[in-house]
This record gives sequence, C-alpha cells and structure tokens, in this order.
Amino acid sequence: MPDQDHSPLSEAAVERMVAEALAAIAAASTVAELKAARLAHAGDRSPLALANRTIGALPPEEKKAAGQRMGAARARVNEALAARDAEVAAAELAASLVAERVDVTLPVAAAPEGAIHPITALIDLMSDVFVAMGWEVAEGPELEAEWLNFDALNIHADHPARGTTDTLFVDPLEHHQLLRTHTSPVQVRTMLHREPPIYVVCPGKVYRADEFDATHVPVFHQIEGLAVDKGITMAHLKGTLDHLARAMFGDITTRLRPNYFPFTEPSAEMDLQCFVCHGESVGNPDLDCKTCRNEGWIEWGGCGIVNPRVLAAAGIDTDVYSGFAFGMGIERTLMFRNNAADMRDMVEGDVRFSRSLKGEAR
Ligand code: PHE
Repeated sequence: MPDQDHSPLSEAAVERMVAEALAAIAAASTVAELKAARLAHAGDRSPLALANRTIGALPPEEKKAAGQRMGAARARVNEALAARDAEVAAAELAASLVAERVDVTLPVAAAPEGAIHPITALIDLMSDVFVAMGWEVAEGPELEAEWLNFDALNIHADHPARGTTDTLFVDPLEHHQLLRTHTSPVQVRTMLHREPPIYVVCPGKVYRADEFDATHVPVFHQIEGLAVDKGITMAHLKGTLDHLARAMFGDITTRLRPNYFPFTEPSAEMDLQCFVCHGESVGNPDLDCKTCRNEGWIEWGGCGIVNPRVLAAAGIDTDVYSGFAFGMGIERTLMFRNNAADMRDMVEGDVRFSRSLKGEAR
C-alpha cells in the first residue's frame, strides 16, 4: 500500500495530529487558552475528528485497525485535556487567592464623622425647656388639610395669608391640601383629640413660597406652643416666654408689642432687647447697630391669648377654659444664639457649618 503513509489515517499522520494536540494542550496556561486548544484539537472540526470521518470509506479489512488507532489517539488527547484542565484551574485559583488576598489586620480608613444639624439640636434644646416644665411635644403632618391650617384658626377664605403667593397648595386643588405654613395646625389637632388641660409644643418644618436669600428660606422650622387650662392669662404667657428667652439667650430683656393674629386676641410680638447694642443705638448718632437697625429691639415670635373662636372650633368649652399660644422661628433663634448671619448656611448641608455650631448639640 504505497500511499498509506499519506492517508489521514496512517500511523504517522495520526501520531502527528496527536503530537500537535498534546503540544497545544501543554502550552495552554489559562482556562481560555485550554478551551481554544480543546476546540482546535478535540472539537468537531479538529483534524482528528475529520480523519475519523474517513474511516467509513476504507476497505472493510482496514476499518478495524484504523478505528482502534483513532480511538486510542482521541483518548490520549482527551486524557491530556482533562489533566491539563485540572492543572490550569488549580493554578488560576492559586493565582486569584494571591491576587485577591486581603490583610484583615490592616487599619480601615476612618469614615468621615458627621454632626447633628444645629436646627435638630436646637429643636431638642427648646423642646427640653418645655418638657422640664411638664409640657408634651406633639408632631403633625407637613402635608396638611386647608381647614386645619387656616379655617380652624379663624383665618377665613379671604385672608391675605391664604394667597397663593405665600401658600403652597398641592394638586388636585379640590382636595384642599397644602404644605403647612405654620405648625399651628398641630395645636388644633391636639385640641381635637385631647381634653384640657393641654400643654404642648409643636416643633417642625413649615413651608412658604418665599424668596431664598440670607434671611428667608422657603422651608424653615418653627416651634409653637399651646396652653389651654382654667384661668390662663397673659401673665402666664409672658412668664413662660421669658423663661424660654432666658434658657435660649441668658440674661436678656424682653417686651410684648401689640400685634394682630386671627387666632389670638389680644395678640403680641415678643421682642428681645438687641443683644449687640443693648438698646444703646436708639437715638444715638454715634452708634449704628446693624442687628436691630437702631431700634433697640429685635422681633422673635408671635403670641397671644387664643381666640375663643379657635377653642370653640376645636370643641373646647370657652366658658371654662382659656389658653395662650406662641410661635417662634428656629432658624431665627439659631441666628440670634450664634450670630449666624446667613440662613442659607442652614440648608446647604455642609458638615463644616454643623461642626462650627457644635455647641448646639449636647
Ligand atoms: N402661627 C404664627 C406664625 O406662623 C405664630 C403664632 C403662633 C402667633 C401662635 C401667635 C400665636 O407666624
């Protein structure tokens, strides 16, 4: 058989194909390379597979020997593949264990330290002044019913405070919902749910369609208070607010200046004597006080004797009970306590601002 050596099934040809396959397998050093070697030398289109297909065309007496030769050759290649597969996988695992090694004894990078926001800290501080006098803290929703924010507080439909310029109404308008413009609706909620005597403070966020500048932010915080009991007078109001003023500002002089609120009658504004010039800039051409604009006093918050119509709307017997109420801005209080000039610092969330007023957090 002169041309047998050139047949793809000759011993020499098969030996060559096996040798090439084994060399490629030995050279593969990654899972991916080994996969490529398997495809090239043991796959459906590999030389060995193609040679195997020619067995059928051989004369019958040659088929057996050729079949055995091919079977043995393919078995050697498959064994080599399996052996190399285990080696490569073990090597890759060992390499990744080294590469991904974590030294659990290394010190971790310290997370930057946060700070309690001064507004939060001041709300706690002011609430505590009242809790120490036996008052309770009440909270309510920021999305509020128009009736509780206005009508129940004697602010009728034509009152300017209802104008869309101040109040943020929420769609759909026929649901009569708004972002509360003060925390007074929490006081109404308290009166609706509780019997007097009532002594509550209501701190929280309020919303007004205001400019955003050094002295206005559209979302700010208030703390409002309500006392309803037998025989409540303006003297109780003055004594309570003076106590709060001293707790906030130390030895300070206050005054009540007549004012108007629909929900209190009589109503007043509580002023603090200017803590910068102590009133000395008033009528003094040599002194120009930027803090009080030479008026000697700065406005802190509103207050008054609760209008009996408000008590009645909440189902309280006005022949038996009377009450006082007040409301202060937390941001304003924070500015006065720290001489912070710009309200925008309070909403920007820069932790350095919070840290600089760390004294607010105990
Ligand atoms: N609700 C008033 C405001 O938002 C403050 C206030 C509360 C005034 C209670 C008087 C009595 O400005």
